[in-house]
Amino acid sequence: MTMSASVQNKCEGVGIGLRSAHYQDILGSLPDIPWFEVLIDNYMNEGGYPLYYLDQISQHYPLSFHSVGLSLGGMEALEQTSIARLKSLIDRYQPALVSDHLCWTAHAGLHSHDLLPMPYTAEAVRHVAARIDQVQNALGRRILVENVSSYMQYQCSDLSEAQFFAEVVESADCDILCDLNNIYVSASNHDFDAMRYLEQLPVSRIRELHLAGYEDQGRYLLDTHGEAVHAPVWALYEQALQRWGDTVPTLIEWDNNIPAFSVLLAERDKALQISRRISGDPVCA
Ligand SMILES: [Fe+2]
Repeated sequence: MTMSASVQNKCEGVGIGLRSAHYQDILGSLPDIPWFEVLIDNYMNEGGYPLYYLDQISQHYPLSFHSVGLSLGGMEALEQTSIARLKSLIDRYQPALVSDHLCWTAHAGLHSHDLLPMPYTAEAVRHVAARIDQVQNALGRRILVENVSSYMQYQCSDLSEAQFFAEVVESADCDILCDLNNIYVSASNHDFDAMRYLEQLPVSRIRELHLAGYEDQGRYLLDTHGEAVHAPVWALYEQALQRWGDTVPTLIEWDNNIPAFSVLLAERDKALQISRRISGDPVCA
């Protein structure tokens, strides 16, 4: 399956995370969305229902691929079969962006559904940067790595999370997917300044932003990606656009308690309003 000649292989403006509950909405009305982000771990099987729909959607929209399963920060060898399958999907759909997370998800043969944070040390920088380098070489392209939200910290960490993130991407020569909700959740849970975090990231490497919702558990914030974006994250988004400009593609990411597609469109509209305020110009969806 190849992309229609009229579809440009580029992510611009405010995209939406593709979820199976919305396949019919999207293909039925072809909404004016500039791109969709695909949770590519759900498309790893040959054939079947997900690829049937992805084939059709890719005819109309640019895609980004978002992975949760590479365990870039893990201690076990990278899973070469998964990377090879990811490469075959990249060859097939030619996504504009490919990303995974700065975390570990597997150990001793067990796989976690949580994206677990790493210790923030120079040794861990070297470790994860070498693995990102392996993945980029195997895929034959640059990837983006995304910051995760966290609820615990390692006593051995001697770098801040932002310093760690910046050192990893420089050392691996990869790009940044900056999840503003995740920064806000971690900043609240660990009592650091979210804006100070943004200031420490290398601007030239920031290729995508994520916006999502968290749940307030009282003593801490839980990153559920199951609610609308909260006011403090919108405020952080506005500050980020003021700092980085409004040309970084933004994604509305909603993974749990999936709402009607119209709810995601309304979230997209809020992001566009902020973008317009920053640029002073109308922004194409
Ligand atoms: Fe995210």
